[in-house]
Amino acid sequence: MIRLLLGLFEMNKNALAATVPVAATDVAVSWDNLYWFLVYISLFFFVGIILAMIIFAVKYRKDVHKKPKYIHGHTGLEIVWTVIPTFLVLWIFWWGWVVYKDMIHAPADAMEVHVVGKQWLWQFVYKNGTSSIGDLYVPVNKPVKLIMSSEDVIHSMFIPNFRVKQDVVPGMYTSVWFETKIPGIHQIFCTEYCGTSHSGMLGRVIALTPDQWRDWVSGKKIDVDSLPADPTYPGFRSNHLGEGMPASQGTLTTGLSLAEKGKALTQSKGCVACHSVDGSRLVGPSYKGIFGEDVKLEGGKVVKVDENYIRRSIENPQAEIVEGYPPSMPVYKGLVTEEEIIAITEYIKSLK
Ligand code: CUA
Repeated sequence: MIRLLLGLFEMNKNALAATVPVAATDVAVSWDNLYWFLVYISLFFFVGIILAMIIFAVKYRKDVHKKPKYIHGHTGLEIVWTVIPTFLVLWIFWWGWVVYKDMIHAPADAMEVHVVGKQWLWQFVYKNGTSSIGDLYVPVNKPVKLIMSSEDVIHSMFIPNFRVKQDVVPGMYTSVWFETKIPGIHQIFCTEYCGTSHSGMLGRVIALTPDQWRDWVSGKKIDVDSLPADPTYPGFRSNHLGEGMPASQGTLTTGLSLAEKGKALTQSKGCVACHSVDGSRLVGPSYKGIFGEDVKLEGGKVVKVDENYIRRSIENPQAEIVEGYPPSMPVYKGLVTEEEIIAITEYIKSLK
């Protein structure tokens, strides 16, 4: 607080920057610009109003001999105090909206990582089938999109250095994306009270240089402790759930990619008896080429086939029947795990 005030009065950019987390993405820089604009404009009006109040209190203090003149309306003044604040708030809205749009729309070439929140840890599942707990491995200078869901209660993914925060909700997917420029460690917090160990539900983004990233993808161990510490929270750890819960670096357990796991699942769970993968018509719609497309439902509603639609169609298929098909698929809610849904979704995505 003291540092903030000193920084404000000196208009010292470095002193001010030290009062917020390090800005490790372009979106973070944009948010900070808007934030400091709001701080300065609030300060401007605060000082202006207090000064005017003091001057008027002194100048017009009680004087029994003077009767002030009555004023009835002043069009000029009314226009000024209507037009200026209107433009100001519209400008702030527009500014916030532009940054918000950048923040929520991931670039099309973003690398996708699935995130499962559970009491009380973060699990990250990568397209190549690897999964890691506590630590999220990403390359620097590449957009990364997190597709997130929860296995139990509502959690919230917060990465202060990237200025992204999003609830992680059971039964549906939410997402955030980021592209960090700063290699090393960036702290993750859970910011939705989710039970006893909520405060221990920590994680780290491990941002790797291109060489380190190639090493990790090829299965080499990364010496995380030798990486640059989080510039904002140097002392934090991945999660502190005790000795039994160290951050796992991730291993290729089966050697199968997510899509390959999904393919095996659609066979072992019998999905392929009713859903073809080549576009031909069986009892249910084919998986081929549906991801990202619009589909017409019984009743005329049109929905886009995305992660959330696939999830709903697995867990509660009767709610949205594709036009022209019988409502014969059984409910799979509770019969498939979070990771199995992720794998099946990636398999359907791969069937272009
Ligand atoms: Cu998970 Cu708080």
